[in-house]
Amino acid sequence: MTDLGDFGDFDADSDADSEAADEATGANASASASPPDSDGMHTDASTNATSTSPAASSPESNGDAGAGDEFEPTSVEPRGEDVGIGAICVSQGLRIAEDGDETSLRAYITRGNRSSIRIGSYLVAPYPDGETLFCRITGLEYAQQYHADDATEIHARRAMRTDGVEEADYKFVAELEPVAVLYDDDGELKRRMTDRVPKPQTVVEQATDSEEIKTGLKMPEDGVFLGHLSVGGEKVKTAASPPTIDYRLKDDYDSGDPLVFRHTLIAGGTGSGKTHGAKNILRQYLADERTYPMEDGRSVQPAVVQFDPQDEYAQMHDDNPDLDDEFARRLEREGVAYGGIDDTTAFVPKVGSASYSAGHHRAEQVEFTIPFSMVHENPWLVAGSGLNDNQYGALVSVLLPRFRKQYGADATYEEFTTFLDDPALREELDESGRVHEATFDAVRRRVLGFDHVFDQDARPITDLVHEFVRPGGLSVVPTYHINDTRAAETVVLALSSLLIDQKLSNDPTYDRIKETPLVLGMDEAHNFLTDADSVQAGKVITKFTEAAKQGRKERLGLFLITQDPQDIDDAVFKQINTTVVLNLGDEDAIKSVNIPSNLESKVPYMEKGQMVVYSPDNSEPVELIGLSKCLTRHGRD
Ligand SMILES: Nc1ncnc2c1ncn2[C@@H]1O[C@H](COP(=O)(O)OP(=O)(O)OP(=O)(O)O)[C@@H](O)[C@H]1O
Ligand SMILES: [Mg+2]
Repeated sequence: MTDLGDFGDFDADSDADSEAADEATGANASASASPPDSDGMHTDASTNATSTSPAASSPESNGDAGAGDEFEPTSVEPRGEDVGIGAICVSQGLRIAEDGDETSLRAYITRGNRSSIRIGSYLVAPYPDGETLFCRITGLEYAQQYHADDATEIHARRAMRTDGVEEADYKFVAELEPVAVLYDDDGELKRRMTDRVPKPQTVVEQATDSEEIKTGLKMPEDGVFLGHLSVGGEKVKTAASPPTIDYRLKDDYDSGDPLVFRHTLIAGGTGSGKTHGAKNILRQYLADERTYPMEDGRSVQPAVVQFDPQDEYAQMHDDNPDLDDEFARRLEREGVAYGGIDDTTAFVPKVGSASYSAGHHRAEQVEFTIPFSMVHENPWLVAGSGLNDNQYGALVSVLLPRFRKQYGADATYEEFTTFLDDPALREELDESGRVHEATFDAVRRRVLGFDHVFDQDARPITDLVHEFVRPGGLSVVPTYHINDTRAAETVVLALSSLLIDQKLSNDPTYDRIKETPLVLGMDEAHNFLTDADSVQAGKVITKFTEAAKQGRKERLGLFLITQDPQDIDDAVFKQINTTVVLNLGDEDAIKSVNIPSNLESKVPYMEKGQMVVYSPDNSEPVELIGLSKCLTRHGRD
């Protein structure tokens, strides 16, 4: 609205006066502007065909309506058809600088386009020589067109009686962040840093060309499908078919390593779609044609081992009954693998008398147990969270080696307890000054209580390695049926240590593990990779950190899923290259995932299946929408 300062005697309660004021101020605003009907031809506000110059008047803004038509009508509507949504303006500063903070890039948005513009949208602005500036809207602002004070009683009262805003009275300016300059290199579209400034009055358009958008955002053409590019919860649409833009994670050695071996984190609150999303990604790793070259020249399909505290992943064996033919055809067109994975086996830990029921999936089941002999390699498995450094030292340097020497490398847990029950041993170690009695007792107390974990009545996992790690196969380890969390933890950590140790070893016992690309998936990862202050947590973190560091070389990818990312140790976090964040409400959790602030602010508002992806070596940070259907079975009836 315009300045009403002239109308000192204005009576806000009089409608007649208020009409008059409106008309009169309209005249102020656009003395030589268009005639009453010039806007009658206005296209409807949602198209972007018509642009009106800022000074153009609106239907009711003809000040002379009641005073006779003395002026020649002069149209200010530019002739011809409008393209784009507005133009780069210089009046507010136009500057591209090395330092992003010193960059100023703003575009005036024409009236018809204003309501459809959203923060985060991608725009393109051409340079005269054919190059294009690719940018993103980071701010939207109404600014005053004329000097006026609209914080007045009269403005407010009038607004309360009418619908809508007189757009012509305001400038609508979009603040842009330059993302990249796009240029043609022998027929191929390429990107480089923004090193030039667009001309004033350059027309900006919504980016709608798939190639421009993918190049602008550095999105790879091929790779593992994660979802469709979106802005503010809506898929970005192009004129192509399909109109959506697929986001893929680089999965070859053309430039760098496949990102799977540089590790993935999926974080999201309860019910945000983590498992649904994780299954859809894991399904891609198990696509028939997906293989990775090994050092010996073979091309090998990856094995996926998934730790599964909620007993949900064995269902990946089965098709999703809700995935209809039409959806399937779309997936095929987009090159997305779907359907149950025949080669799925549930490796069911036998723990005490806990029984596993598998009514919700049809995958094969194999029972296994953890042999106590694995503790020699990983003594912290029996340390729980209780041992201090001194006690742990006694266990590792004295008790276990002694036990091994006396009973042999394959001796059982039961034998170990017998060994510790020997008062003569306790006395001897105390007298020789090697292990104080109190320390001995403390260790003994803490390592007891694993009778239901080790050496149960099932095949030891060490005998099942060939079945457990299969190229192209999915092995799921459900632990929901184990109601003792310490036991479940021990099983998961024993298996993951076995896989990691063999992968990283220069002299592996199990070549199968060493020679198969491996994706190690862990749902509820915060329970295992905590930054808790205990011997066990410390050892686990060191192991996983080391695994993460060497994964690239050894073709070992960690695939962590969690609702409490803030509980995962930083050392592990630092090694993760691809972070996928679904809806997260907790502020500490959001902070902990370490994504750019523009993505951070979206996270609490995201709906099921919406995600942001921060994978600096893959693309610019983006927002995606995951597939609405699970590619395999998910959920129980
Ligand atoms: N993109 C999506 N579109 C539609 N529905 C979805 C989408 N993602 C997930 N869902 C549905 O939302 C529900 C919860 O999803 P999911 O089980 O993956 O959540 P979660 O984050 O793993 O939850 P929890 O914390 O309980 O493990 C499921 O029924 C799932 O199918
Ligand atoms: Mg889940």
